[in-house]
Amino acid sequence: MLVRKIPDGTVIDHVPAGKALSVLRLLGDPQENGFTIAMVMNVNSSKMNRKDIVKVEGMEVSPEQVQRLALIAPRASVNIVRSYRVVAKKNAVPPRTLRGVLNCTAPTCVSVREKESAPSIFFLSGRSPLRYRCKYCGRELAEKEISSQLG
Ligand code: CTP
Ligand code: ZN
Repeated sequence: MLVRKIPDGTVIDHVPAGKALSVLRLLGDPQENGFTIAMVMNVNSSKMNRKDIVKVEGMEVSPEQVQRLALIAPRASVNIVRSYRVVAKKNAVPPRTLRGVLNCTAPTCVSVREKESAPSIFFLSGRSPLRYRCKYCGRELAEKEISSQLG
């Protein structure tokens, strides 16, 4: 392997190729808070064509972070490592409702025209591929639009 095993922390595997940096940003850039990060980008995977892997040494991600992760890496597996062993393997679960996270792409939508009185609300409408539907106008955002909005 390109990167050694970590003694403790989190390994986020099966991240879509090119999304490793977005995953780090979503986790709050732990490297800026003193954590050591390892990333593997664009490796071959049996489950998907190409993938990235993100390892954060010494930090266990929270359930909320695992949920948000599902938005940019819907098929990611989150491995919690303690004493070199994987003690928990979680799949990122997309939240049913998103408030103030996504922007509707319909120019006439009330959530676009009147942001103050109609804050953005989206409901999960598909998991694979990921889809969210605007509460106000019904516009659906596709997986690509969702991950591009989240950086
Ligand atoms: N890993 C690590 N450090 C450890 C233990 C595991 O960096 N001390 C990494 C592995 O390299 C792998 C991921 O965590 O990328 C998941 O580990 P494991 O469950 O042992 O691997 P697989 O069985 O291949 O995982 P999956 O079935 O999810 O593909
Ligand atoms: Zn809308």
